[in-house]
Amino acid sequence: MTPDLMEAGSRARAAMVERQAQIEAAGGRVAARQQLLRLNEPDFTQGVALYLDDITVSFDGFKALNALTMTINVGELRCIIGPNGAGKTTMMDVITGKTRPDAGKAFFGSTIDLLRLRENDIVQAGIGRKFQKPTVFEQLSVFENLELALKADRSVRASALFRLNGAQADRIGEVLTLIHLKDSAQRTAGLLSHGQKQWLEIGMLLMQDPKLLLLDEPVAGMTDEETERTAELFLTLEGSHSLMVVEHDMKFIGELTEGKPNKKVTVLHEGSVLAEGTLAEVQANEKVVEVYLGR
Ligand SMILES: Nc1ncnc2c1ncn2[C@@H]1O[C@H](COP(=O)(O)OP(=O)(O)OP(=O)(O)O)[C@@H](O)[C@H]1O
Ligand SMILES: [Mg+2]
Repeated sequence: MTPDLMEAGSRARAAMVERQAQIEAAGGRVAARQQLLRLNEPDFTQGVALYLDDITVSFDGFKALNALTMTINVGELRCIIGPNGAGKTTMMDVITGKTRPDAGKAFFGSTIDLLRLRENDIVQAGIGRKFQKPTVFEQLSVFENLELALKADRSVRASALFRLNGAQADRIGEVLTLIHLKDSAQRTAGLLSHGQKQWLEIGMLLMQDPKLLLLDEPVAGMTDEETERTAELFLTLEGSHSLMVVEHDMKFIGELTEGKPNKKVTVLHEGSVLAEGTLAEVQANEKVVEVYLGR
């Protein structure tokens, strides 16, 4: 090791020791841990759940996202539409840390810089993502799937010792009701319909208590009735959660925005926001009709 490296190492260690001493002086180990936990907690006091600014993602010179800027407010349910290849899924990849942008800013609440966090830390901070294809554990029951989601962030040893406490059992009950699977709690997940599997996966996300939910084509392959029930579920979550919902199904977007004349819909095209406004406004927008709705 070079003297430079050793010196840097010892400076870092001295800083750590000093920091630990300060934290202990401020109230002991428990307080220290709580303080660290708080550092990963989003600050929603400014009313902003998600802030993307000037995000660019290039794949071999092709800009999948091109100076994308968007804000989602706390408790808002934002619908995102746009043609295939517009960059909708890539945007979720950036938010969840799967893809790093070439440029731009991404904040969760007003303090958490998503571009500095790893994928796991982003989940821990409170962002849950639902992919298009359901990934439930087919051999386990519905209840066991939800139970497993509670344990997901524990080590193998800790999850072997894990026992549900009363509050957690109650939470599973609440989620079962929300996702319309109360009567199927003991059913094997593999026997559920495609729509029910999608709900179960949303339920598994909810067990982790996310503050922002990213839902990529959640009703693809659902029956009309399942689609309507999914809209109801999302409208129940709105307010207590912030949601980003990407869909091609315009009937579903209509159900999510019905009776809410101010609700915003964002149209993505070629990696940027083409239009943003109420559903009626974007549907009347000539550019939107040309690139998407008029097809
Ligand atoms: N890993 C990658 N490597 C190269 N190109 C990619 C990669 N991921 C996405 N792309 C390209 O980026 C563009 C945006 O893709 P993206 O999947 O974000 O679109 P989308 O809006 O989700 O489309 P869809 O509605 O079809 O799901 C597409 O042209 C896609 O081919
Ligand atoms: Mg996509």
